[in-house]
Amino acid sequence: MKVLGIMGSPRIGGNSDILLDQALAGAKSAGAEVEKIILNQKKISGCQDCKKCNETGLCALKDDMGGIRQKILEADAVIHSVPVYYWSMTAQMKAYLDRWTAFFDADWRWHKAFYPQMKGKGIGLITVCGDPNVHTADPIVHSFKSTADFTKLRWLGTVMASAMGKGEIAKNETAKQEAFELGRQAATS
Ligand SMILES: Cc1cc2nc3c(=O)[nH]c(=O)nc-3n(C[C@H](O)[C@H](O)[C@H](O)COP(=O)(O)O)c2cc1C
Repeated sequence: MKVLGIMGSPRIGGNSDILLDQALAGAKSAGAEVEKIILNQKKISGCQDCKKCNETGLCALKDDMGGIRQKILEADAVIHSVPVYYWSMTAQMKAYLDRWTAFFDADWRWHKAFYPQMKGKGIGLITVCGDPNVHTADPIVHSFKSTADFTKLRWLGTVMASAMGKGEIAKNETAKQEAFELGRQAATS
């Protein structure tokens, strides 16, 4: 069992990072092998909609997303963690998500090369926003959950938290516990 964490904030040691670490600790506690990828340390260009991937399953862009896609394929579950930037996800996370396009064929179904590994894969989400109302992050949840529903991935759920200053979420025991549980479930369900 492998659980992959995808960190979408540029702040290492920030709120999204802390909660993702909690989720990965939860997965590890349930016996999973875990790995975290910090998107801000990777070079990921935006999807060009060139359609070259539709036939081959290979993306024409040669950057770090190729290696990340391989890790997604090998994982049993992928947990994303991202702050709200302007009522949406960060540019790092959006570039990453758009590049999932290379997993699909021309009809937006799993490319036959990837279907066996993507079928039933778990996908989860952690959001952090500065606004005290955690539902400020609803557009991000909509984006990830719709992607999961559309592609029949196994939706693991969402942890939505509020914090503004770097690392402030460390004081929020409820959010940390929820994130730990999300990770534990990712490794056991
Ligand atoms: C460019 C930028 C845009 C932001 N936009 C929003 C926003 O629209 N709504 C909100 O509630 N918080 C917003 N925030 C606050 C962050 O979501 C908040 O500080 C969060 O805790 C950052 O998480 P991190 O520590 O994981 O980076 C914004 C922060 C930045 C830097």
